[in-house]
Amino acid sequence: MLNFANIFDNMNILAIESSCDETSAAVITNGDIRSNVVATQLIHTQYGGVVPELASRAHQQHILPVVDKALNDAKVTKKDLDAIAFTKGPGLLGALLVGTSFAKSMALGLDIPLIEVNHMQAHVLAHFIDDPKPAFPFLCLTVSGGHTQIVKVTSPLDMEIIGETRDDAVGEAFDKTAKLLDLPYPGGPLIDKYAAEGNPAAYQFPLPEMPGLDFSFSGIKTSFLYFLQKQVRENPDFITENIHDICASIQHTLVDILLKKLKKATKETGIKEIAIAGGVSANSGLRKSLTEMGEKMGWKVYIPAFEYCTDNAAMIAIAAHFKFLAGEFCDQTVSPLARMEF
Ligand code: KG4
Ligand code: ZN
Repeated sequence: MLNFANIFDNMNILAIESSCDETSAAVITNGDIRSNVVATQLIHTQYGGVVPELASRAHQQHILPVVDKALNDAKVTKKDLDAIAFTKGPGLLGALLVGTSFAKSMALGLDIPLIEVNHMQAHVLAHFIDDPKPAFPFLCLTVSGGHTQIVKVTSPLDMEIIGETRDDAVGEAFDKTAKLLDLPYPGGPLIDKYAAEGNPAAYQFPLPEMPGLDFSFSGIKTSFLYFLQKQVRENPDFITENIHDICASIQHTLVDILLKKLKKATKETGIKEIAIAGGVSANSGLRKSLTEMGEKMGWKVYIPAFEYCTDNAAMIAIAAHFKFLAGEFCDQTVSPLARMEF
């Protein structure tokens, strides 16, 4: 394999992320993140979820200042860049189009190569930004607003999904349940906050039975709904009076579902290097329970820094770094994909 790193003294890549409601740009030099700028779109809060058309418009407004700031923070000029990377998918098509078009025009204007990145693979590779880095092969539980996957990672560019959700993602389960509790979007972090002062054993819910390493969250979401409806019929103030215990019990149930499958995956594969990634990996209940389970089971556990859990361009940049070294570039005919396989 050609090693492109030898050709460059300083290999500078600008990476752009625009798959959902975060416009982000980062600069990486020889594998070190030099800047990571994230503009979060607050407009969606009032609608209780991401509105695709508004997301595309907000990306158009944010992308130039975000890219400028990423270059300035890294003290890198456009002329210093050796490649432009972007999220090709999966995500909202209109949102992806903004980042993809921007990256393509910039690469064309500067006459430098383009690198396409799979957003879900980038979440996994965020573990290679800082130390300690997982050893290969490792398992990564990738948990976000749109995905729930157990990924077997053999090398930076070789990974396989060995289990995934058949319906809702766990982040969606957090957010939709939060809506039932009248919490604003995105509700996941708020459930986490209230759960900190609640009793996780206050209310119990039946765990879904799914074969193999796959997940299902639609049934449990309905259980939460029926439980809340019943309680509110008996006491209209049930939610406000018990918000901490409700959130702690819901969070405990969702984390339990995730960790049971992860345990099964380690048994089946014999792999004991375990990582988590994606927005829901910011959840303190998941971080704590995984750490405890790791100690009990003799796993080596890798938990990303908070800034690299939710969507960011630094993870796109580190994925692009590996692709650059392997000489994996794409051409100007590339289009974004709402759904994208590994
Ligand atoms: O990876 P991400 O930023 O975007 C997607 O690619 O989907 O993940 C966003 C998801 C949302 O569902 C959000 O509620 C959830 O991550 N999330 C959390 C926490 N922080 C973010 N869920 C539970 N607890 C948290 N602390
Ligand atoms: Zn994501």
